[in-house]
Amino acid sequence: MAQADGSGQSTVLETSGRAIAPLSPAPSGDLQGDPPTAEGMHLSARPRRLRRTATLRRMVAETVLTPADLIYPLFVIDGVNETVPVAAMPNCERRTIDRLLVVAAEVHRLGIPAIALFPALDPSLKDERGSEALKESGLIPRAIRALKAALPDLVLIADVALDPYTTHGHDGLVDDRGTILNDPTVAVLAEMARVLAAAGADVVAPSDMMDGRVGAIRAALDGAGFYETSIMAYSAKYASAYYGPFRDALGSAPQWGDKRTYQMDPANGREALREAQLDGAEGADWLMVKPALAYLDVVTRLRQETRLPVAAYNVSGEYAMVKAAAAQGWIDERAVVLETLLAMKRAGADSILTYHAMDAARWLQEA
Ligand code: PBG
Repeated sequence: MAQADGSGQSTVLETSGRAIAPLSPAPSGDLQGDPPTAEGMHLSARPRRLRRTATLRRMVAETVLTPADLIYPLFVIDGVNETVPVAAMPNCERRTIDRLLVVAAEVHRLGIPAIALFPALDPSLKDERGSEALKESGLIPRAIRALKAALPDLVLIADVALDPYTTHGHDGLVDDRGTILNDPTVAVLAEMARVLAAAGADVVAPSDMMDGRVGAIRAALDGAGFYETSIMAYSAKYASAYYGPFRDALGSAPQWGDKRTYQMDPANGREALREAQLDGAEGADWLMVKPALAYLDVVTRLRQETRLPVAAYNVSGEYAMVKAAAAQGWIDERAVVLETLLAMKRAGADSILTYHAMDAARWLQEA
């Protein structure tokens, strides 16, 4: 604060009443801080003490992100030695199984423990009932067998829902009035899960949001002797506009209507706890919240309510926004990605499905 004194000169008064230390160039590194003086404020707490150096900050970090927290989603197509780019998802090509094996080996080498598989099916294989989803010789079962043979230790998560397989793009069976039928769909999903487990999936992940599907899938798996196959339930899956690029990747956009009669209303948080409680009671081994970034409050609430591991899905639209801004030079991609993933973990996610997984794992190794 500048103030005129009797001499008419301006002096600067420090609010603490002490002299200002002479300004010297800021030392490099982490050594900045007030110089010692006996006349400072006598504060009972100075949280900045523990932020003074990188080493201190590392000691008191409450959350640490590692490649082991990440799950990498991958898109699979039929054919040989081919990749097909996804417009809004740079670096997330659709890949034939032989090309998938190469990426999966790299994923494994980077310390990422798991991949989640999604099929981009030839339209000629789709029908009203998603029959292709039940074929032992289908694209995903073949991919699973090849991956298991090559990389037995890599955890394979197979999605359970009909939307990549149906001509209408809905996750379930539909009647002639356009209603998504719950119970008949659940019977199909249970058989689909059994087929995926038989192919060698370590985890089946129902993303359909039908009521009662976790219990039915558990019964179908146990009935076929697949006691060790776990279920990662998309418990709180919202009817979200953030899925757009994924639907382009799979060609699975609903051909009419939307998914609001089965996916959750973004207005609801309490309801996520209800879904999670039901899935847990039906035998889910893991719970998931999706999307992640706009739903971190839901991640936190689930983490507090359940003893099961909680996964968060950093979905395609979240990825596309980061990639688009980074391509413009408007954000620092690496810093934004690592901050975002760390925030998801801090919110309570034990695992994060993310299309950034390989980049993030590399950056974490460099750090
Ligand atoms: C569908 C499914 C969707 C995603 C995963 N499984 C989209 C949808 O419900 O329409 C979205 C993933 C993403 O956007 O990254 N069963």
